[in-house]
Amino acid sequence: MITERKKISFTVMENGTIRTIETFVGEYPNLMFLLKDKLFLDEFGQCGGVGRCATCVVKADDITGNSQKKDRNEPETLSKLGFDQENIRLSCQLYITADLEGAKIEILEL
Ligand code: FES
Repeated sequence: MITERKKISFTVMENGTIRTIETFVGEYPNLMFLLKDKLFLDEFGQCGGVGRCATCVVKADDITGNSQKKDRNEPETLSKLGFDQENIRLSCQLYITADLEGAKIEILEL
């Protein structure tokens, strides 16, 4: 049996430009890899997604479900940088799930 993967879309703002990104649930390991690939971000995601380098920080509004919760290394890494706001996230800790449908992602320059 072939199951179709759910298509999702969300917006990404980078340097003042807003793009609509369309992808499929699970198409990338996490949001960092998707952004790096689709937007050609060379310096983005330097630790490869283990949640330590904080080169993948985004502002993520309107995400839903379990993706709203920070876990693993994310809270500690962000708080070292002084980010305690709920919508400031490490994109490597956000999986490509239906929780991102309709989200508004902004890439932050640190
Ligand atoms: S890629 Fe290093 S913290 Fe996200």
